[in-house]
Amino acid sequence: MCGIVGYVGKEECADILVNALRRLEYRGYDSAGIAVFEGDRIKTVKAKGKIKPEKDDDKKSGLWNKLKEEGKPVGTCGIGHTRWATHGEPSDVNSHPIGNGRVSIVHNGIIENYREIKKFLMSHGYGFESETDTETVAKLLDYYYEGDPLEAIEKAVSDIEGAYALGIIFREHKNKIFAVRKESPLIVGVSDEANFIASDVTAILEHTRDYYLLEHNEIAEIRQDKVKFYDIHGNKIEKELQTATWDIEAAEKGGFEHFMLKEIHEQPDAIRKTVSPRVKNGMPSFEECGLTDERINGYDRIFIVGCGSAMHAGMVGKYVIEDLARVPVIVDIASEFRYRNPLITDKDLVVIISQSGETADTLAALKLSKEIGADTLAVVNVVGSSIAREAAMVMYTNAGPEISVCSTKAYAVQIAFMYLLAFRIAYAKGAVDEERCRQLTAELEGIPEKIQQCLENKEQYQYVASKIMSADSLLYIGRGLDYALSMEGSLKLKEISYIHSESYAAGELKHGTISLITEGMPVIAVATQRALFDKMASNVKEVKTRGASVVMVCHDSMNVESESVDHKVGLPTVSDLLMPMVTVVPLQMIAYYTAVQRGTNVDKPRNLAKSVTVE
Ligand code: G6P
Repeated sequence: MCGIVGYVGKEECADILVNALRRLEYRGYDSAGIAVFEGDRIKTVKAKGKIKPEKDDDKKSGLWNKLKEEGKPVGTCGIGHTRWATHGEPSDVNSHPIGNGRVSIVHNGIIENYREIKKFLMSHGYGFESETDTETVAKLLDYYYEGDPLEAIEKAVSDIEGAYALGIIFREHKNKIFAVRKESPLIVGVSDEANFIASDVTAILEHTRDYYLLEHNEIAEIRQDKVKFYDIHGNKIEKELQTATWDIEAAEKGGFEHFMLKEIHEQPDAIRKTVSPRVKNGMPSFEECGLTDERINGYDRIFIVGCGSAMHAGMVGKYVIEDLARVPVIVDIASEFRYRNPLITDKDLVVIISQSGETADTLAALKLSKEIGADTLAVVNVVGSSIAREAAMVMYTNAGPEISVCSTKAYAVQIAFMYLLAFRIAYAKGAVDEERCRQLTAELEGIPEKIQQCLENKEQYQYVASKIMSADSLLYIGRGLDYALSMEGSLKLKEISYIHSESYAAGELKHGTISLITEGMPVIAVATQRALFDKMASNVKEVKTRGASVVMVCHDSMNVESESVDHKVGLPTVSDLLMPMVTVVPLQMIAYYTAVQRGTNVDKPRNLAKSVTVE
């Protein structure tokens, strides 16, 4: 969702800010703007739409064109923003930066009590132009400002409720940026030449990898040659410098047409990086995060909570953990879990899965679990993110930055992690012996090569894509682990191709959904579980007889009847338990090529945001 950047240095900053904003485009947004100190004033340029117009956009729209028309602000310090509309439609006036000439701000998050603040400010003579909650904060800062920015920020922050990351500039404090945050993430990047603020490190990687993580209600004062931090009472504080392990290449397309395709191809490496550090002498080990066998043995049940693909990774986790470790696993959507008064106790482990580590509902579910007294383990990709910092234990999936909104490698490493966790829990609980645990772990370590083989079947996936690209609707069906995986396959397709699809437990089809089958409707049957293959074959016949056009995804070695299946996508053989690790590739690739053939915006699909930081 919204992205914040800020620069203070020696160079003209308009282009630097715009480039940094472009690196945050993946978060999802519908307008953008910058504000720069120019002479004695703050010059703001902002516009609805994508920064640079894309395919279906009006060619004259967006910040890029507006900067050409109005002229780039000339100055060496400024702030910038990509906005994902919440309060007020996407429009030039609702875009950030927002302010009144004395103070200008960019804001991520939601101010819950903005109506009261607005009323208060109106009674003190303030007028409002936009429909945003952000404008109330800008004007509140102006109201409290009497020459000391820190004092104004402290007072304003004590009045506002909700989540925020704020980048603030005061006209009278030329070439200084102030920043403060609560819930929404914000970092302060530092280098010898310039200093920065950003919602995440990918925005500034081309300038620096060194940064400070701003904590709740800490205030940063950023100048070209120095950065200072204060607590909310204005006391100076020292902070620890962090260094990102991601480099700029990781955040660029590297010759691939889309980030999504690049990230699909990065999966073998990402899985190696996630799995290897957790394998000690052939056994999975989580000692580094404090998850000892003794601790595992204290759990009665495991809850897995997340949103979107992260929740789907939890579904795979459930099947594998229950099968191997014989421990009950409850998977929940974070937005449901947090409001349904969940029955968790201090004998439960709550595993929170999140790529970004910032998803609002997932973070709330984590906090709730802690309040109730459950033990918590975060499985997170972004180092230092809110969820990583909040959980009792954290395990990083080392997928590197995922830029495409549609998650691929982050999901793959999440399921790889689920396997490792399942193996160790099963061993700790005595459900599998050491030999079996070693065997399973070794097989998981061999998965990257199998994925590599799947990646080579591009033409096959393109062919399937060409068969489904004109469909209005389609079904994914599967049983057991295949059903869990087909949920992710269906989500990939709808996210980026905009074709309606559902994933269904194959055995449940005849209880209603089979009525949807019409002549030529595509059905993708995921049938990799050998023990369930005959059952799947019957389900496939049921849909085929009713006119469906069936694509079966199964072991290459499996003989399928040509009268039931229109096209077979063959997979390299691994044990049934581990099949989701390879099956995910064709499902991702079919979705990808379908979207490409339909000409959609693959990396930035409409209406979606990569990091959903509001409810
Ligand atoms: C958004 C993204 C999804 C993602 C979900 C959870 O909806 O578009 O791709 O799966 O959020 O995100 P998280 O960062 O918590 O894994």
